[in-house]
Amino acid sequence: MLFITSNEGKFKEAREVAKLFSVEIEWLKIEYEEPQGNTLEEIATKSAEMLSRVIKRPFFIEDSGLFIESLNGFPGPYSSYVFKTIGNKGIIKLLEGVQNRKAYFKAVIAFFDGKDIKIFDGIVYGEIAKEIRGDKGFGFDPIFLYADRTFAEMGEEKNLVSHRRKALEKFFSYLKLISKS
Ligand code: IMP
Repeated sequence: MLFITSNEGKFKEAREVAKLFSVEIEWLKIEYEEPQGNTLEEIATKSAEMLSRVIKRPFFIEDSGLFIESLNGFPGPYSSYVFKTIGNKGIIKLLEGVQNRKAYFKAVIAFFDGKDIKIFDGIVYGEIAKEIRGDKGFGFDPIFLYADRTFAEMGEEKNLVSHRRKALEKFFSYLKLISKS
């Protein structure tokens, strides 16, 4: 199964989960222009539609975002832009003095089966840390607290509980189901 992403962290996490389902995944490392959209579902669907005009075999992509409750879900679908511009330091600054630090990560997988696009999602709830902690993982991992550790401190344990893990489990279970029918 082909996974199209420019993000090595995402690919490595997906490869580990795929092993548990005896699914082999191949990495197509390309950066594509992400279409605009107000939800991850909309962005993932539009991206898969666009790529399906060029890639003529089944593949999947994944779009994720960090949703912060006290910021009404910001950065959400704009997470990539916000990470590139203000980064983890900027998020911590935005939340200075804010008591409610609840946040969640959401991952949306869009699977093109050669004909149609199907969507699978996963969410993990946590909090925004008061400082950057840990050096594993990628993106917002150093500021996302799950229980009392950040994802960047959890290392491989992140992959047992993450938004991506949950979405991938749904997707790979679906692949197993259709391969039997
Ligand atoms: P995208 O899905 O590649 O558009 O990701 C949006 C932004 O969220 C990027 O800046 C990623 O680095 C970040 N991101 C996506 N998934 C994760 C994750 O599992 N941990 C931390 N940051 C993430």
